Amino acid sequence: MAILVTGGAGFIGTHTCIELVNAGYDVVVVDNYYNASPKALERVEEIIGKKVKFYECDVRDKKKLDTVFKENKIDAVIHFAGLKAVGESCHKPLEYYDNNIGGTLALCEVMRDNGCKKIVFSSSATVYGMNNVSPLTEDMKTGGTTNPYGTTKYMIEIILEDLYKADNSWDVTLLRYFNPIGAHKSGLIGENPNGIPNNLMPYITQVAIGKLDCLSIYGNDYPTHDGTGVRDYIHVVDLALGHVKAVEQLKSTNGGVRIYNLGTGKGYSVLDIVKAFEKATGVKIKYKIAPRREGDIATCYSDPSKAKRELGWEAARDLEEMCEDSWRWQKNNPNGFDD
Ligand code: WQD
Repeated sequence: MAILVTGGAGFIGTHTCIELVNAGYDVVVVDNYYNASPKALERVEEIIGKKVKFYECDVRDKKKLDTVFKENKIDAVIHFAGLKAVGESCHKPLEYYDNNIGGTLALCEVMRDNGCKKIVFSSSATVYGMNNVSPLTEDMKTGGTTNPYGTTKYMIEIILEDLYKADNSWDVTLLRYFNPIGAHKSGLIGENPNGIPNNLMPYITQVAIGKLDCLSIYGNDYPTHDGTGVRDYIHVVDLALGHVKAVEQLKSTNGGVRIYNLGTGKGYSVLDIVKAFEKATGVKIKYKIAPRREGDIATCYSDPSKAKRELGWEAARDLEEMCEDSWRWQKNNPNGFDD
């Protein structure tokens, strides 16, 4: 079975390609390298010990994307490609809607034209918005997203559900990620944010290597056990393995829309993460308390039991391993893939 992985050179995409190959799948990667480095795929090839079929292609380029389908027998698509910076999306809404929505529409049209109707979509816990109380379950009302990035994820879920309603031969799996951190054990690939990291763990690891001076903890007056924000951090390899399970499920389905939370079901605060990182690595993290970040919620964590029940998947890596693996990647690659 050949799986097309859009955005396959990115943080979650590279880790997923490795686990797909480990599970015996052939992968074909398309990426426009807007948010990724060619070096990431070179490292994937080093890890798996073979070449990865790659096309430099923007998913909005239907002509080039059609070539990919004409040159390869694609059985299913995992769609990661898209812009993903929450803050940036507030300043560049048109780019986010064009890339994320336009790219998905183009992809689905080319898939349909080539008779490929099995798609796994990289969604996000952000679709639960501000009004749901954790632990979050897949039957909860979505929407009320607070930024264009989150709204694109919400809208794409609706688009894919409407696609299935119009044509029941489509198989749609929506995977709602919580907070992916960690890295492959080799330390050869990992999270490689452009510029100053928005997300917590890459910011911590850049403080740990001395690239950044001090972590700002956005608010310590939330209604949580220590006042700092609580999230459901999941090892990126566990997340990747969830995609392998989703692809396996598609072998035996004939139409439908399935939604799964990919999280650990545990919530950790910012201070919990700082302490866990210091304990796992022996590196002290300098921090200061700063004002709350606009759009942040106090607590967000999953109920992942549906994925366990229906996919036979659950996260297996603990917080200590997430911290150790994040640190190994950053320590070995102080400038990410730019070294
Ligand atoms: C986690 C916690 C912050 C940075 C976002 C997207 C989500 C997904 C993951 C893409 C919060 C605090 C953070 C810092 C801090 N992205 N924090 N100082 O906001 O939960 O989720 O990233 O798929 O869709 O919404 O992740 O890592 O930015 O923040 O105190 O420098 O860490 O306030 O409590 P978030 P995050």
